[in-house]
Amino acid sequence: MKISDITKFKHLAQDKISRTANPAIVRNSTILFKTIQELQKKEQEVKKNSNVDFYEYGRGGSQTTIALQRFIAEIELAYSTFLTSTGFGAVALAIMSICRPGDEILVTDAVYGPTRMITSKFLKSFKIKTDFYNPSDLKTLESKLTKKTKMIFVENPGSNTFEFQDLSKILKFAKKKNIVTAIDNTWGTPFFIKPIKLGFDMSISSGTKYFSGHSDVMLGSLSVNKKVYERVKFCSKLLGYRASPDDAYLVLRGLRTLDIRLKKHEEITKKIINFLKGEKKIKEILYPYKKGTPNYENWKKYYSGATGLFSVFIYSKNQNSVFKFINSLKLFGIGQSWGGFESLVLYQSNNIDRKYKKYIKKNHHIVRFHIGLEDPSDLIADLKQAIKKIK
Ligand SMILES: Cc1ncc(COP(=O)(O)O)c(C=O)c1O
Repeated sequence: MKISDITKFKHLAQDKISRTANPAIVRNSTILFKTIQELQKKEQEVKKNSNVDFYEYGRGGSQTTIALQRFIAEIELAYSTFLTSTGFGAVALAIMSICRPGDEILVTDAVYGPTRMITSKFLKSFKIKTDFYNPSDLKTLESKLTKKTKMIFVENPGSNTFEFQDLSKILKFAKKKNIVTAIDNTWGTPFFIKPIKLGFDMSISSGTKYFSGHSDVMLGSLSVNKKVYERVKFCSKLLGYRASPDDAYLVLRGLRTLDIRLKKHEEITKKIINFLKGEKKIKEILYPYKKGTPNYENWKKYYSGATGLFSVFIYSKNQNSVFKFINSLKLFGIGQSWGGFESLVLYQSNNIDRKYKKYIKKNHHIVRFHIGLEDPSDLIADLKQAIKKIK
């Protein structure tokens, strides 16, 4: 019987051994065997990637992390999923699994700041060249592909400026030249878009965000197809990547309600956007809501829903008044991260490093919001009083 993601979210983590609705939290390092032969048999099973229920040593994971790996792989329609202790760990694992000295990597210019650092600064010391393409103009991507390009790293939409790209075009360029493609899909989650089915080799999610949904845990997932599986497995094992069973349990618990939360985030965010549209001091809203714009059309083409993260673009000669606006918000916490139950706000103009500088202009301010699960009328009332502070 074919079942939907919504039903899968509710059933996938049932534990067949303990017959409980939730998996046990199994904390481990040493795993004990009755005989040397039994241990050797397990080592062979793990090597051959048989569908193991447990590993021969805790670094590989425990029953709880295996339950989460299988859960995410099923939702991602992936060959396999690797877990890391943070979302950024999954980004690093994806890149380090593929890029070797002499290679080149092409990265979206609107990539998450630390991903920009790992590619442009860290890889450089390994003689791996990074270049950035303009997510709003994919001709810049096509023109930068060389014989040495090993990987295209996409983040969709872009961090802070939320450009939506025509993903099939990127995949077409990559397939022609047999280039590995990875996407950071933290914004959309595999509930709203299935990158592996679309043709990406790797799909990354910071489980810290919507997967967990409760702002109390950090975790990353890297889901892969068969083509890159062995390379990622090799790197993951050698570099010692692992997620803690307690954290895996919390993420499994969060995933049960991912569909319900995301739909609610979307519904509330639409109300907030509708309010902001009417505010003169908000110059532009970086969210896919305006039909006919490239961002909206690219979002519509690939996503079945939109989440709660967006930026607004404020023009003001008085930066202090923009800070006052942020500081006056009572229901929006000032802090990093998003994808939790609570609303957040950040001043992001200082954090935008770009080769293509469309958004970096004098007196232009980018303020990022995450819309949580509070009552939208309270959030709107809060925004209304705070916006008055912008001069
Ligand atoms: C787009 C994106 N990718 C990856 C990460 C890294 O995730 P984590 O904070 O779990 O390390 C973040 C964190 O903010 C992010 O925004």
